[in-house]
This record gives sequence, structure tokens and C-alpha cells, in this order.
Amino acid sequence: MKRIIVLPDVQAPLEDPRMVRNWIAFVKDFQPDEVLGIGDTCDFTAPSRWNKGSRGEFEDDVYEQALYTKKRVLAPVREVFDGRFGILRSNHGDRPRDYLRKYAPALAQTHVFDEPELLDYDGFEITDLGDFYDFAEGWTATHGHLGFSSSRYAGGSAMAAARAMGKSVVMGHVHKLGLINESRGYKGNLQTLTGVEVGHFMDINKATYLKRGATNWQAGFTLLYVGKYGDVTPVLVPMASDGSFTVEGQRYGALHRGENGRFVGKAAA
Ligand SMILES: [Fe+2]
Ligand SMILES: [Fe+2]
Repeated sequence: MKRIIVLPDVQAPLEDPRMVRNWIAFVKDFQPDEVLGIGDTCDFTAPSRWNKGSRGEFEDDVYEQALYTKKRVLAPVREVFDGRFGILRSNHGDRPRDYLRKYAPALAQTHVFDEPELLDYDGFEITDLGDFYDFAEGWTATHGHLGFSSSRYAGGSAMAAARAMGKSVVMGHVHKLGLINESRGYKGNLQTLTGVEVGHFMDINKATYLKRGATNWQAGFTLLYVGKYGDVTPVLVPMASDGSFTVEGQRYGALHRGENGRFVGKAAA
């Protein structure tokens, strides 16, 4: 059985550090066959068309955010895990390069603003997975920004992508955690398409573009079990607001509850 742990949208430095820390502790314990980054690992906030002409465009944070992402996310993963680690292309990952192409095409031949360069994929032995990663027969993983229709329900956008591509889809981008199945056919020849959305590790208070932090997002990550015959079993792992979670009956992350089951502070626990 091949076991893949998905790293969802982190958008460092807009991440919740507890979520990342607990997830890395889990990677260390679980020692999967593979870690699959769904993209938007780094936010790359400044070089965005949304920022054009505004103060944000002049924040000059590309190298600072890349450094932060390497230090807080990629290096800690590599400290505990030396197996296969791949990351998909994504809209935030492409921001510096797209910005250069759009606003300084005469300089755009350089690759120094490509995400694999900025985040030192070579140094961390990370594979650039491109736009699609077919990790099992009839399944693909993709970041989710390539024009698929979106849904308010978790799993719905991945299902729309699955329908469009005729294969099951695992994706990020919409920051939801959910799974939708759709079966077709008849007895003995039933075909099921699955759409999986893998969660996110963001601190929604750091995402200033969300009005009053109101959003239909769900924190968490996803495990993918790939059987010998190519069968895929996705397991969604929701995270509590303190960044803790449960896998196979084991709790990861600090969770302090009083006798009434309510969360209590560290000192009282
Ligand atoms: Fe994202
Ligand atoms: Fe995205």
C-alpha cells in the first residue's frame, strides 16, 4: 500500500504555524511513501495583478517570503522526511514569474523568478510536478486554478474538474476540505468519479483580503492510500481551530480539554 500525505495550501507567511508544526510531526511519525504539495505553498503577496498600482505592489517581499517558506515549511519537512516530495504548479507559485512576463516581458527570459528557483527545489530535492500529477490509474492531482467551475460546497469544484477530465481529481486552491462521489452506469459496470478538496493551513486572520475573516474554508489536509491494483482511498483530516487533528485514532497537536470537554488553557490542563 502506497501512502501519500498531501501538503495543502499553506500560503506562507499567511499560514497558521501550529497547523504546519503538527502536520510535520505527523509526517515524521507516519513516514509516508510520498509527500504531495498541492501548490500555493508560498503566498508571494506583492507581485500580483490584484495589487497593480496599489501600495501592496511595492512591498518587495518576494525573496523575504521565499526565505520564510523555505525556513518554516520546506526545510522542516526535509528534516524529518527524505522520501519523494513533489509540488504542483499553482497560481500563487506562478505569481512572480507571471508578473515579470506581464509587466517586464523584455526581462522575462530569466528563470530566477520561477517558483522552483525561488524555493530552491533542487536543494530540497523537490520534484516540480507541473500542472497535473497522475498518481494512480484514473486519478490526477492538480492545484485547481486552471479554470474549472467552482462550487460553494466542499468537493464540488473538484467534482466539476473530475467531470471535465473524466477522471477522479484531488485538488487544493479553493481551501475547502471535502469529497464528492458521482457514480454512473449499471450493475456490474458502475463507474465512480471522485472529487477531493484537500483543505488548507492558512490563518484566516492573516488573510486581510477576507472581509472580517468570514469565509467558507475548512482547515485540514488529506491522506491518499493507493492500493496494489490502483485503488485509491482518500482520507480527509480536518483540523480544529488550535491546529490539532486525529489520524487513525491518534491525536496530533496540543489539545487541552477540561472535564466538561471544553477547551482550556495550557496552565489549567
Ligand atoms: Fe490557495
Ligand atoms: Fe490557488
